[in-house]
Amino acid sequence: MNKDLLNRLEVAPVVPLVVPDDPETAIKTTQALVAGGLSVIEVVLRTSAAIECLGEVVRAVPDAIVGAGTVLSERQAAEVALAGAQFIVSPGLYAPVVDYAASARLPIFPGVATASEAQTAWNMGLRSLKLFPASLVGGPAMIKALGSVFKDVKFMPTGGVSAGNLADYLALPQVLACGGSWLTPGSAIAEGNYQIITDLAADAVAIAKHVRA
Ligand code: 3PG
Repeated sequence: MNKDLLNRLEVAPVVPLVVPDDPETAIKTTQALVAGGLSVIEVVLRTSAAIECLGEVVRAVPDAIVGAGTVLSERQAAEVALAGAQFIVSPGLYAPVVDYAASARLPIFPGVATASEAQTAWNMGLRSLKLFPASLVGGPAMIKALGSVFKDVKFMPTGGVSAGNLADYLALPQVLACGGSWLTPGSAIAEGNYQIITDLAADAVAIAKHVRA
């Protein structure tokens, strides 16, 4: 795993999701998150402009480590690598995506939701896994249970994480970072009120500092 990425997640173990509609709003959203103290960002491939936006964000916000999320196929993995993604996140575990990431030397966080998937991932040599959808598959209790058998695995729970339950996840030593979209509300972006996003990021940083002090 990339050292800079790990160092940043140690300081601020939260990965906000950016759902990009156009390059300008994606860049402003990312800048607002960085201003609030969160500089590891996941741009998700859920819109037609996502790959273009990813490339623009990488270029325009060099202070951020910008990954690509919702990477479903090997082809998408190749596209995001070409656009400059610095890590890859997938909702599930799919060997061609994992293999592509390894060949491109990109850190990857594939999603798991069961012990069997975690075991398959472990046997593929992976030690950093997304837990998705975290709140629906058991939340912090699930991470404790998986962590008791996969002792050298760190998890990035995503799906249903919020300011209200962030501390419960971060209290667990098995949690590398939490991911989520609560930091980038569509309503704030629609209003052009990026200060809301900076404030949400700063709140998350404060919660993390408090829990991990
Ligand atoms: C993901 O892609 O990881 C999830 O859809 C994010 O879930 P959230 O919107 O509940 O944060």
